[in-house]
Amino acid sequence: MIQRIAVLGSTGSVGRNTLEVIKAFPHKFCVVGLTTNSRIDILYQQIRDFQPALIAVKDEVAARRLEQRLNLKKYKYKLFVGKEGLKEIVKDKRIDKILLAISGADALLPLLSAIENKKDIALANKEALVMAGRIIIEKAKRNKVKILPVDSEASAIWQCLEGQDKKKLKNIYLTASGGPFRRMQRSQLKDISINRVLKHPRWKMGKKISVDSATLMNKGFEVLEIMSLFNVSLDKIKVVIHPEAIIHSMVEFIDGSILAQLSVTDMRLPIQYALSYPRRLPSKLPAIDFFRLKALHFEKPNLKHFPCLELAYQAGLKMGTMPAVLNAANDISVNAFLEKKLDFVSIPVVIEKVLSRHKNITNPDLENILSADSWARDEAKELIARLDSR
Ligand SMILES: NC(=O)c1ccc[n+]([C@@H]2O[C@H](COP(=O)([O-])OP(=O)(O)OC[C@H]3O[C@@H](n4cnc5c(N)ncnc54)[C@H](OP(=O)(O)O)[C@@H]3O)[C@@H](O)[C@H]2O)c1
Repeated sequence: MIQRIAVLGSTGSVGRNTLEVIKAFPHKFCVVGLTTNSRIDILYQQIRDFQPALIAVKDEVAARRLEQRLNLKKYKYKLFVGKEGLKEIVKDKRIDKILLAISGADALLPLLSAIENKKDIALANKEALVMAGRIIIEKAKRNKVKILPVDSEASAIWQCLEGQDKKKLKNIYLTASGGPFRRMQRSQLKDISINRVLKHPRWKMGKKISVDSATLMNKGFEVLEIMSLFNVSLDKIKVVIHPEAIIHSMVEFIDGSILAQLSVTDMRLPIQYALSYPRRLPSKLPAIDFFRLKALHFEKPNLKHFPCLELAYQAGLKMGTMPAVLNAANDISVNAFLEKKLDFVSIPVVIEKVLSRHKNITNPDLENILSADSWARDEAKELIARLDSR
């Protein structure tokens, strides 16, 4: 039977890779829904290619422009507009599985809504899990919904744990390529340009996650993501820098055996597995050539040079609303960096200050999380404005 997929965030890096996977398997998958924030030129082309029944555009002006272009075609579709549109689209009975590739905190409410509507989720977005992992996983369990990891490291751990007794898990080795500045000192990073930050040595990704990879906050987010997805305590998650990015993560059991998942560095692989699970489908991607590769390397992350990872560990120790604050302060700081209002090395400075001012709420409900998120955004903006005016 063909699986009907809605791709939320179809115009982004993961979204576009997902559509390539779907296109490669026309007898296995079809597209029923596509959504974007505002990049309607890309969306328009995708609509022409896939003719989805459901479309959502968050930006209202962009939505109207798209509608004008689509009206010229005799094509039946339902267009959802604005923030609420995403919550609406996930209710549609024609959707079998949702691939959630919206970036940032705005993915949280559509994700919860999708779970309430009992849709299985192939989940690329990590910010929602960082903010509200416990709430998401509990809701998914109550609604018998599968959360299928798309993030390559989470997918690797998921694949290594398949069929294993999770009580016998000793450690998770979460690998990180180290980003573009692995070998640089903090002092060398002060005046680093946006272009250099966005040039990741191994992965082609959206801007926000590229900055997060350069600061290692992305790895910090993955630590928090993995705690929720696999119900693992923080002390069992070890970050290992592995510059070749061939091993996507490893799992160690109590007898000392370690299982690893290896593949070429290409997001289409974990996307395909999350879509085809529990089956595996053939892939046209090149195989690993071990003889050309020759060696794999491993290093300890330098927390002094990359304090964002340490900040994420601290938030993971405290939990409660701290991870949501970490995410929100990071989001504002990364945006400020991309708008040239904050330098690269000040990103962790702002986040640390916001975390230190926050009164943590343990066992938060969704309302607590959303208000911590909005409080942290205001605090971070204020701090950045003060730094900017100096
Ligand atoms: N890229 C990777 O290789 C990778 C790997 C693992 C995990 N992830 C995670 O997957 C998520 C997506 O990453 P990405 O690199 O694909 O990001 P991206 O290229 O920036 O794409 C983000 C997508 O979400 C849409 N979007 C952004 N803000 C939105 C909002 N407020 N409401 C509705 N739609 C919104 C964007 O629409 P517009 O195009 O109109 O802006 C775009 O379609 C992130 O959470 C990231 O951490 C990414």
